[in-house]
Amino acid sequence: MTTIKKIAELANVSTATVSKIINGKDQYISEATRQKVLEIVEREGYIPNGVAKSLKMRRTKTIGIILPDVMNLFFSELARGAEDAAEKEGYSVILCNTDNKELKEEKYLNILHEKMVDGIIMTAAEGSMNKSVKISKTPMVLVDRDIELDKPVGRITVNNEEGAFMATKFLIEKGCKNIGFISSQKKNKPSAERLKGYRRALKENGLEVDEKKIFLQNFTIASGYEGVMALLERNKVDGIFCGNDLIAIGAIQALKENNLKVPKDVKVIGFDDISMSQFMDPPLTTIKQPIYQLGEEAVKMLVAIIGKKDIDMHKVLRTELIERGSC
Ligand code: RIB
Repeated sequence: MTTIKKIAELANVSTATVSKIINGKDQYISEATRQKVLEIVEREGYIPNGVAKSLKMRRTKTIGIILPDVMNLFFSELARGAEDAAEKEGYSVILCNTDNKELKEEKYLNILHEKMVDGIIMTAAEGSMNKSVKISKTPMVLVDRDIELDKPVGRITVNNEEGAFMATKFLIEKGCKNIGFISSQKKNKPSAERLKGYRRALKENGLEVDEKKIFLQNFTIASGYEGVMALLERNKVDGIFCGNDLIAIGAIQALKENNLKVPKDVKVIGFDDISMSQFMDPPLTTIKQPIYQLGEEAVKMLVAIIGKKDIDMHKVLRTELIERGSC
């Protein structure tokens, strides 16, 4: 049976060198030595050809996908789009769910690096950006949530400010004058941009921006529920723009518990158009994101970056207003 010791003797290198090459920790070893050792590894059949080939070609044909909350139908649909596109491009995927926690995000970035994935698609946690993203040398595309990085990464986003402006303007056109906004914290770029669009729509239509009508926490059902309870304590509202559809679910539940009818007493609009929004009671009016396409485009961009193609590194997709029964 071939051993590392035998490989080392045949290649006239140390066993430590052979081990580093086999484990992909060979950044300080010359390419010539790498190739010599891997030829012997393959010839002697020391490790399965697939792994030797991956090490030699520096390609595993695997993409890592890091998402913050796979229980949110937004991210499961995004993952679906990414996985279908990856399969068409001949890649397999490793899906990582970070629970919106930066520590888990960091752990998965390290694991994906060790597994030598060819590239990573990531939606960052709702908090601030993760420092390990900066040091990762693996090709990367940020999808949906853009974060400031001083290194070239791909970006696939929508125009959140424009979508939020559309949502708020729609409530105003429906006669709302006291419009609340419930969303994720400002550190989350999409949420900050949606807040901007909400403010701009109020100002451009002669309505004042009242900080007491703004509740920022997370993109969750609980935040929608708590947000309505907080807004109702402080003021009367006749319309609520929710930063995503999960928030809208919680918001509508809280309105009902306060004997407020949707849309008669309070009109509600969401953001995302996840697959269950059309089945809510009442069916949710929302700003539709091309969720599946976000995942698809992220993979196409990543494969182009891996292939060192000269491409536009930021693609912005359009949103559209979907009118249903909640407004
Ligand atoms: O629903 C999850 C939210 O977080 C979406 O609106 C998406 O834009 C992501 O940022």
